[in-house]
Amino acid sequence: MNQGIEQFKRSGVLEINELLDKDKCASIYKKILNDRNWGEQLFRSESEVISSPQLTKTNPGKGVFNLAEKFDLSFIENNQTIRNYLNLILGKNYYIKLKKITIAACDDWIPKWLKDKVSKTPHLNLGPYIKKQYRNVSYFRGIDFHQDLTDLPDTNVDFITMYVYLNDIDATMSPLTAIESSHIYGCTRVPHYLKEDKDDNYIYYGIDENNCKRFKKKHLLGKMGSVYIWTGCTLHGATPSKINNDFRIALRYTIKKQNSEKSIIDKMTGQFFTGKEGELRDDIDQETKEYLNLKTKKILK
Ligand SMILES: [Fe+2]
Repeated sequence: MNQGIEQFKRSGVLEINELLDKDKCASIYKKILNDRNWGEQLFRSESEVISSPQLTKTNPGKGVFNLAEKFDLSFIENNQTIRNYLNLILGKNYYIKLKKITIAACDDWIPKWLKDKVSKTPHLNLGPYIKKQYRNVSYFRGIDFHQDLTDLPDTNVDFITMYVYLNDIDATMSPLTAIESSHIYGCTRVPHYLKEDKDDNYIYYGIDENNCKRFKKKHLLGKMGSVYIWTGCTLHGATPSKINNDFRIALRYTIKKQNSEKSIIDKMTGQFFTGKEGELRDDIDQETKEYLNLKTKKILK
């Protein structure tokens, strides 16, 4: 537990491999897999999209057309290890703001008429192109590096995202990739300042080209039942699937703290830097300052 929390504080990402009951994960996975024909038939026709474009509310909501809510997920939500971590990170009072099933769509599902648009816009939101009756899960075909706080624009960054893999995910199946320790810059403007490194395992990220650091990418390759938790300020994304016969099915939770009691998350998120390299804002309390100083010395050299 301590080791995991230290990993989370340092990197903004917690990885708990193969934590959950495999039989229960496999049972949900099979039910989702058998729920519909996964393929081109999920998509609307071109004429329908043109005559009736729907650009918003194309994803499941809390209590609104949400397949994840149809399953008994108590083996995840009441798992003692997960609860212990959430108690430490968010404090004793937290709640599930949203849970949903996410699907990494395969290339050969994309209808011919949409292929061109998809290849020109590689991280296109597929929701508007999916038939209404299938929008009780979210579909992705890769997604750019982003912070999840954009999903919750009016809130403090006092929440975490938790992913649960329901099948084994290898490098070809659109694994999620997080940028380790990227949370230290807090909430940053979109488009985020990112620059590729010659080593693909690293990337430069920061406020701008004068205030950026080299960070390590963490590819979240994991077996069924693996759990990942990251802060709302942690940059993460996914490349499109490279294969067409298997695809990633995962559960995504947004879990938020419910009171103002201070916990680990409060020290990890927020805009701590003035913009001058390494300089911390004056109004940050002493304890947080010491923590960040220790952290920056440790990881930013
Ligand atoms: Fe995300």
